[in-house]
Amino acid sequence: MIVVCPSCQTQYDLDERLVQEPSFIARCSKCQHLFSAYRPVRVEEIRFLDLAAAKSRDDLANILAISNQKGGVAKTSTCLNLGLSLARQGKRVLLVDFDVQANLTISLGYKESVSFYEVLNGGANSLEEALIQTKYPNLWLFPSNKNMVLLNKKYFGAPNFEFVLKDRLLPIKARFDFIVIDTPPSIEFLTLNALTTAHLIVIPSQCDYLSAHGIDQILKLIGLIKAKTNPSITPRVLMTMFDKESTASKMICSKLNRLYAGMIFETIIEMDPRIREAQILGMPVLEYNSQSKAGLQYVQLAKEILGQPQPNGSAAQPIVG
Ligand SMILES: Nc1ncnc2c1ncn2[C@@H]1O[C@H](COP(=O)(O)OP(=O)(O)OP(=O)(O)O)[C@@H](O)[C@H]1O
Ligand SMILES: [Mg+2]
Repeated sequence: MIVVCPSCQTQYDLDERLVQEPSFIARCSKCQHLFSAYRPVRVEEIRFLDLAAAKSRDDLANILAISNQKGGVAKTSTCLNLGLSLARQGKRVLLVDFDVQANLTISLGYKESVSFYEVLNGGANSLEEALIQTKYPNLWLFPSNKNMVLLNKKYFGAPNFEFVLKDRLLPIKARFDFIVIDTPPSIEFLTLNALTTAHLIVIPSQCDYLSAHGIDQILKLIGLIKAKTNPSITPRVLMTMFDKESTASKMICSKLNRLYAGMIFETIIEMDPRIREAQILGMPVLEYNSQSKAGLQYVQLAKEILGQPQPNGSAAQPIVG
């Protein structure tokens, strides 16, 4: 595991097996700074509820979680632009920012907001009260803020902790056709809640040489979730930031198609600098530029999820709903 000193940024590569506690105090040998460090949660040590409890709660539909433990693979970009594309198809969409980085909230131009932390700990009376109706028709946001980091400490490992989000969404789920949840690049309270709540897990994967490793990791976790807390879960891999000029990108794309046959979206999201530009301006890419390549590919992804005809003429079955 890599531990980074927050003061001087020196990185230490520690043998994870020697670290017994989930969090510990470390001293940087370079600058002597004392700081809290966290061991990544091992999939094997997560305590799950039994399946019977899960079945009685399995009554939400059309919930998508965008997830991959690998960072920077376009989870947030996918959540935002797929969400807007579904909203433009006339679907009522709620985006849930379930990442302490709050990138989704910021990408929509919001800064100071409440979060799921306040919903559980006072500061917001209900999840409904915390919803933001965005300026885009049919699109709502449940925002995040930095307090979300406290949820892991407070609730991770508590009985039934994986079901907290699912329970809180129950009173409002009928108002939406789709709920799309952005998750952090780690396995913890937020990710396990999102995976327990969702029916479809969209796994964005960059076309780089470590992508298959990241997909294997999340599929292993989804296997456990399926057996323990959410039997009706479908994983689908979405190739992102594909560079059609790059031979490596093409080689990885065909490798992923071989390895995960039947589990990959037909739609591929290409590298498009407009995504970054739109993010800087706090808006979805289609709002920034209606002809953006990646933006139109997200529209195509929404159609694929809804089972609408594909550019190659095939009409897929709806993946959800
Ligand atoms: N199709 C694309 N073309 C070019 N840049 C992209 C594309 N998709 C995403 N990006 C850029 O890549 C970076 C990472 O994207 P994003 O924040 O969506 O990833 P993430 O998986 O949510 O990251 P994290 O794991 O930190 O939450 C951002 O700067 C984003 O603007
Ligand atoms: Mg993100």
